Amino acid sequence: MITKIQETADYIRAKVGEMPKTAVILGTGLGALVDHIEDKKYIPYSEIPNFPVSTVEGHSGNLIFGRLGSKNIMAMQGRFHYYEGYDMKTVTFPVRVMKALGIETLFVSNAAGGMNKEFKVGDIMIITDHINLFPENPLRGKNDNNLGPRFPAMTEAYNHQLIGLADEIAQEKGIRVMHGVYVGVTGPTFETPAEYEFFRIIGGDAVGMSTVPEVIVANHAGMKVFGVSVITDLGGKDVTEVPTHEEVQKAAQAAQPKMMEIMRELVARAE
Ligand code: HPA
Repeated sequence: MITKIQETADYIRAKVGEMPKTAVILGTGLGALVDHIEDKKYIPYSEIPNFPVSTVEGHSGNLIFGRLGSKNIMAMQGRFHYYEGYDMKTVTFPVRVMKALGIETLFVSNAAGGMNKEFKVGDIMIITDHINLFPENPLRGKNDNNLGPRFPAMTEAYNHQLIGLADEIAQEKGIRVMHGVYVGVTGPTFETPAEYEFFRIIGGDAVGMSTVPEVIVANHAGMKVFGVSVITDLGGKDVTEVPTHEEVQKAAQAAQPKMMEIMRELVARAE
């Protein structure tokens, strides 16, 4: 796998030149961050050797290099989901490439369904921890010690310092942010009421179909991670609204300005 990672990293380095230390995975709700990146260079996934191509509506596929405020960043516009049929190694391949390019800090965003009864649609949830309910772990298989340890700790999968900084920024800007545990599931079905309830009982605050694989690999690779969810729908035994892809997109769109304000500032201030 290292050869493939290197091949892809070499291709990107040759195209872009100087590499940033910060990467952002633009999930649902953070797409518009692209408009704030200056001096952009786009590399379509279809042109990148060994890169898969995203298949989901609403997720375009480009790597973007540029400046966000004063900081050089790399952004993934569109990510790869397990439900699309990719295996875990493919879903997380871009994170391996990031590491090979010298990325030290990874920011991830997503849309998620809320189980926590305090949550409202449109809330922003800083991810403090996760529960991996994917049927697989991206690190399953022979471990390559050059990529990371066999048994990596996940005690601080989401960097506490970055969480603190995000809280400060939200407070300064008067934006309500919640904290919570993200439950990662396969999808593509949304959950049954009983499943939302189950995820709440086991300690989850929100549930979604991404992020956990990338965060596991980023931690394995020794990167610092910050994650944030937009709560796009609510689920539980008393909830009768039916979530749809369109509604998720709409709610994420509405929350986007808040999300962006926090992320822009956080990326700028993070070390
Ligand atoms: N469940 C799973 N994934 C999601 C949801 C949900 O309710 N909302 C947005 N992504």
